[in-house]
Amino acid sequence: MVDQGPRAPRISSAQRLWLLELGVEKPLLARFDIQKSRPAPPSERAVAVQPSVEPTSLLRRPVPAAEPHQKTQPVPVKPPAAVESPTDWASLEARIQACEACELYAGRQRAVAGSGALENVQWLVVGEAPGERDDRLGQPFQGKAGELLQGMLHAAGIDPSEAIFYTNLVKCRPRSNRLPTAQEIASCLPHLHSQIALLKPRGILALGRLAAQTLLATETQKNPGFEALRGKVQSFTLTGVGTFPVVVTYHPASLLSRPRHKGASWRDLNLARDLGKSWSA
Ligand code: URA
Repeated sequence: MVDQGPRAPRISSAQRLWLLELGVEKPLLARFDIQKSRPAPPSERAVAVQPSVEPTSLLRRPVPAAEPHQKTQPVPVKPPAAVESPTDWASLEARIQACEACELYAGRQRAVAGSGALENVQWLVVGEAPGERDDRLGQPFQGKAGELLQGMLHAAGIDPSEAIFYTNLVKCRPRSNRLPTAQEIASCLPHLHSQIALLKPRGILALGRLAAQTLLATETQKNPGFEALRGKVQSFTLTGVGTFPVVVTYHPASLLSRPRHKGASWRDLNLARDLGKSWSA
């Protein structure tokens, strides 16, 4: 047999698309051995988020207009007073659906508690708030930002349909897709804490400044700089429950309007992927 030299490095088609997005030239990519990615069959998808298109096709689309993504007030530093946390998922879901702790309940079609794996959760992905489509469907990350998120995770080698639970800082949609206010986040934080206590994820992926600062603010550093939080594994301690590693990256909605951050987000997700590998090593 003819010796064909060392095998070309293998990358998935989603990774190829992501590298193309980052500006890597096609001739260079031609040197890679592209594996066709295989979406997980529905039976493997627990209560999984259902992307409206398969992840491999996401990055081929023209970049759509960004979801409105305005500035918001600083996040609260003090966690709200402790309330008794539900001890099972059904009670927590019922509590979230009935919640009227802030005025967002008045505008919701339904509260969006989250979706994904409930057992052996590797990653808890925390975004900001449900969007219009999420509010209608009762599932998080159903819009353009969610599509990009699925593609990003997939491209970084994290299977977006397995062992991940997706949720938000606030469970009800702010009207006109504005960012949630500090008050709304503070009112909703007990639900997120209850979710963390029940799921006990191996790690948390915080999407965007609000999620990162809400989880990582301390008494001494009330608004830690978003950029300073990226690039290394942070940690979040929930009293009485445990300490969880946190990886911070850009919110996919902000990547839609600022694609120049995609390279940095790729590095963040590689950090998450490496952390995930260390759990199974
Ligand atoms: N949809 C979500 O569920 N969360 C976000 O942060 C954005 C869109």
